Amino acid sequence: MSAIRINGVSKYYGNTCAVDSLDVEIESSEFLSILGPSGCGKTTLLRMLAGLEQPGSGQIEMDGKVVNELPPSKRDIAMVFQTYALYPHMTVAGNIEYPLKKRKVAKQERKQRVAEAAALLQLEGLLRRKPRELSGGQQQRVALGRALVRNPAVFLLDEPLSNLDAKLRSHMRAELIQLHQRIGRTMIYVTHDQLEAMTMSDRIAVMRDGKLQQIAAPSEVYARPANRFVAGFIGTPAMNFVEGRLGDNASCLRSGDWSVSLAESLRPAAAEDGQLVEIGFRPEDLHIAESGMRATVSVVETVGHEIIVIFDYAGTEIVGRFSPDVSLHAQDVVHLAPRADRLHLFDAASGRRLNAG
Ligand SMILES: Nc1ncnc2c1ncn2[C@@H]1O[C@H](COP(=O)(O)OP(=O)(O)OP(=O)(O)O)[C@@H](O)[C@H]1O
Ligand SMILES: [Mg+2]
Repeated sequence: MSAIRINGVSKYYGNTCAVDSLDVEIESSEFLSILGPSGCGKTTLLRMLAGLEQPGSGQIEMDGKVVNELPPSKRDIAMVFQTYALYPHMTVAGNIEYPLKKRKVAKQERKQRVAEAAALLQLEGLLRRKPRELSGGQQQRVALGRALVRNPAVFLLDEPLSNLDAKLRSHMRAELIQLHQRIGRTMIYVTHDQLEAMTMSDRIAVMRDGKLQQIAAPSEVYARPANRFVAGFIGTPAMNFVEGRLGDNASCLRSGDWSVSLAESLRPAAAEDGQLVEIGFRPEDLHIAESGMRATVSVVETVGHEIIVIFDYAGTEIVGRFSPDVSLHAQDVVHLAPRADRLHLFDAASGRRLNAG
């Protein structure tokens, strides 16, 4: 059964549309990431799920019941805010314990649950401190601890790792994945970090300007982005785009001096001869070839296990990743050919995906 159903939910602040007719169903025990750039409506959506904001229109259902009017305290949900919102006068232990105290959990059990959360989040040495005596990353972990002890049906996590350093962040990422597997709770995880969303989630919901762009498993979002925005947002280095035209009943694709015939499965269903399209290909799907796009090497970045090469193709930047034994140097002139079976085609005007791929 779906734990949460979001039905045509919109939210305006004055004239600003923060969330625009959103439809999403979230399965029970699912780890769903909400991914998108700053200002796309992620926090607004979480606050509506938590009951801190009311939808302007549409309905939010939890366990089959409409909860639009239900106050936060009546929802079996814990939220970790982007801004932590710790109680400044309470110690770390007091902050973590607070939700249990409010629910009148017995003292012995409170102590035990606080100790467990502190151990998991490596906060044992800090339990007597006040929030102002903590770094941003430590405060963030306290906020996580406060949600954990409650053991709610649904966790709403708003960029909970954004203030951690790279090492702790990757450690906490792994801890959160394990925690999710262990407790089997529904987790809705907001991030603008596509790597985080890719590595942690069962599904990713990509948002832009308050609108849902695509919701699918990470592998699907990567292999078949629904539009040019998702294609460019997921993956580092980002997908390359060049303009091209379809020909011969959409069986052939041409961009400047490069042309390729499209396998049946890659042809757009409804396309016109000569139609202008945007061709997308990922840096790992680029090859140096005998013929193709004539490009000049601008920069070679050695990363160790691979090299990232930036090319200039008639004024357009193209990025490729190659094995370190490919010998390329700045100013080399080469021909580039993307893998024909991994091409992404987008409508030049709307950005909508044209081929199945
Ligand atoms: N209380 C508010 N009053 C007016 N406008 C708001 C309010 N809260 C959010 N907005 C606007 O709604 C839009 C969505 O904001 P929201 O905080 O949901 O974005 P976000 O995706 O969480 O961004 P970020 O990644 O920066 O946290 C933005 O344009 C923002 O300026
Ligand atoms: Mg936000």
